[in-house]
Amino acid sequence: MLRPLKAQPLTLVLQDLGLKPERVRTIGDEPMLMHSDGQHALCCVPAQEHAAAAAKNELLSFVRSQLSENGACLLFLEGARTEAELAQWREALWPLVHLGAIYELSTRGIQRRTLGKREALKGATGLAGTLLVGRRVTHVLSPQATREKFDSNAAGWNLQPGKPGWKHYRWMRRFVGHFTPAQRFDRVLDFGCGAGWVGIEAALRAGTQTLDFFDPSPEMVRHAEENARACGLHSARGRVGYGEAPPFPGEGERPYPLVVCSGVLSFSPDPQAFFDGLLRALEPGGTLVIGDIQRDSRGMRRRRETKALLPVRELNAWTHTQTRAELERRGLRFEAACAYQYSRPLPQLMHFNEVKLGGALDGLFVSLNALASRCCGQSYESFDSWVLRFTRPD
Ligand SMILES: C[S@@+](CC[C@H](N)C(=O)[O-])C[C@H]1O[C@@H](n2cnc3c(N)ncnc32)[C@H](O)[C@@H]1O
Repeated sequence: MLRPLKAQPLTLVLQDLGLKPERVRTIGDEPMLMHSDGQHALCCVPAQEHAAAAAKNELLSFVRSQLSENGACLLFLEGARTEAELAQWREALWPLVHLGAIYELSTRGIQRRTLGKREALKGATGLAGTLLVGRRVTHVLSPQATREKFDSNAAGWNLQPGKPGWKHYRWMRRFVGHFTPAQRFDRVLDFGCGAGWVGIEAALRAGTQTLDFFDPSPEMVRHAEENARACGLHSARGRVGYGEAPPFPGEGERPYPLVVCSGVLSFSPDPQAFFDGLLRALEPGGTLVIGDIQRDSRGMRRRRETKALLPVRELNAWTHTQTRAELERRGLRFEAACAYQYSRPLPQLMHFNEVKLGGALDGLFVSLNALASRCCGQSYESFDSWVLRFTRPD
């Protein structure tokens, strides 16, 4: 089903991507024998071929044989394709490759699409079709890529009071931070803290000043430190590190009676090592509260079917059932679970409110979300996020 394609007609696109044409390999080229830096794999799907699922094995075996760890996977689909079909080709590439950009090529021009962005490039390629551009998932989720991604948009993740969406942002963090039991804990660890709000909420509720937190992004840690101090947590301590090898507890330090971890598992390149890290951080008798996005909610499933470009975490996420089973297998005792963030169409309405109405209805949406979780928080398919609580037997 797949055909070879020469890199030459794509010169303008390769330039835009910063790729060297001589590093592009296609069907029929000798397979890569040794690790080769920056080697890209390019192939073509003829216009009459639409069955992405049927092409999966052939596609993945070609990509595996030609794509280096840091190279780009280039899949050119001849002719007209719907967005839903592009989503199927993205699925065919997963879990080897994650789609990061799409180039729409016509005889008149080139349109580049990335998440939430569309731009016209100068010139044309002479080809008519869609070029999908992806990278190995291991590369997209690599420690360096994660650190760069969050460092470069740390201010965006640290929402500011009064900005559209602020009330909802804080409500979500409070929801997870307050899923802890109503009791005192003398030390709290926020595992993948981002701007720190889940740990801050948990520490305030636990009645402790001792909040430790870490994140791969030094910029996020800096924001978390500032936010904690602004909330009166003056002995809060931040470190840079990854959940797969957590920097807390360090050498000679004790594990924690309370660990909170929100929205982080879905970014992990190695979930088994991540779970090992969580258990290492939790003392016997301690409580773990972990939350993340619900991969199989109504809204997430629809996004996967209808949108070609999605954040990698939406594909990499675990459901609450999978996470619970994994943590129980590791000896943790399940205590409670709840779903939150009502799914489609609430996020779409909230987006409209933030972009078009300047967040005027923020309060209303927070109340609706809170009510929905209270009334039907066990109906996981209807919510985009989940939170689970466990204890570690003594
Ligand atoms: C969606 S944010 C959530 C932040 C925060 N926990 C919250 O709920 O607001 C995800 C955070 O996870 C961090 N992260 C990504 N991969 C990680 C990993 N492997 N280990 C620990 N943290 C990670 C990112 O740097 C980012 O700050």
